[in-house]
Amino acid sequence: MQHFTSVKDVQDIHALIQTAQQFKAQPLLHSSLGMGKKIGLLFLNPSLRTRISTQLAARNLGMEVMVLNMDKEGWALEFQEGIVMDGTSVEHVKDAAPVLGQYFDVLAIRTFPGLIDREKDYSEQVLQQFIRYAGIPILSLESATLHPLQSLADLLTMTEVMHSAGWLGKRKPKVVLTWAPHIKPLPHCVANSFAEWVNSWGEADFVITHPEGYELNEQFTEGAQITQHQDEALQDADFVYVKNWSSYQTYGKVLETDPGWMLNKRKWQTTRQAGVMHCLPVRRNVELSDEILDAPFSLVTRQAANRVWSAQAVISSLIKDASAR
Ligand code: CP
Repeated sequence: MQHFTSVKDVQDIHALIQTAQQFKAQPLLHSSLGMGKKIGLLFLNPSLRTRISTQLAARNLGMEVMVLNMDKEGWALEFQEGIVMDGTSVEHVKDAAPVLGQYFDVLAIRTFPGLIDREKDYSEQVLQQFIRYAGIPILSLESATLHPLQSLADLLTMTEVMHSAGWLGKRKPKVVLTWAPHIKPLPHCVANSFAEWVNSWGEADFVITHPEGYELNEQFTEGAQITQHQDEALQDADFVYVKNWSSYQTYGKVLETDPGWMLNKRKWQTTRQAGVMHCLPVRRNVELSDEILDAPFSLVTRQAANRVWSAQAVISSLIKDASAR
């Protein structure tokens, strides 16, 4: 694996999940793999889980970790080629990225979309410029369109639940990704990424449900069954992934806030005692009800905990493959 920005960078999803499981069983299994190596975590946007879990993962591998909150502590970066820099940006990524490439062995970046210019966001300008100019492996900590470390943790979580319930490999789970209301326009990253990973995983009957106007980009959802009837989608579901996203067609807009789309106990009772998932942070009683989040079938804390092992599996693969080149 040269970089980790989407499921397309992964040769074998099942093997990667297995590696994450090995690290979960033995966190210090390869504690000297990253000895003498440094990882830089660049945050252009806020984070709790990704920030901590990635640091823990890198430390378990013996790496030195440095965090730079670019949004607060770094120079304002410019990403546009050929621009006259007489505005607010101070340093071009063409100059900053090669410097960071000299300091670190792996560079991890979190950046959110602007949700104004769809073409710009979907070109993944920030991530692509770092890939182009840093000269070292780039790890996405969530980008303008995808959140692959989250999705790997989500697949690990579903695998664990199926294994402990004794039906892993015996029947395909019904996995439902449902849109939920929110007061603000949110990125598509988690939904795009979850769809892309579940489709590539090939182990689920996958249904996506959302109100009209919330269709995701088909490049990520192709292969899933898509319906605007949430009640039908939830019937006999084994896992329900709840997430808000803004419109892709009417780019970045909130078209619908109907609280009727929020998952509650009555709806959950039509599922097959589904494990309920959310990447967090979540707005309680807007996106997901207390009665669901506080229930024993809520998987949200387990998903967040599994972020350590998914990051550890990916970072170990990046540094192993870089050493082999
Ligand atoms: N799920 C997730 O990425 O959480 P943070 O935004 O807190 O990192």
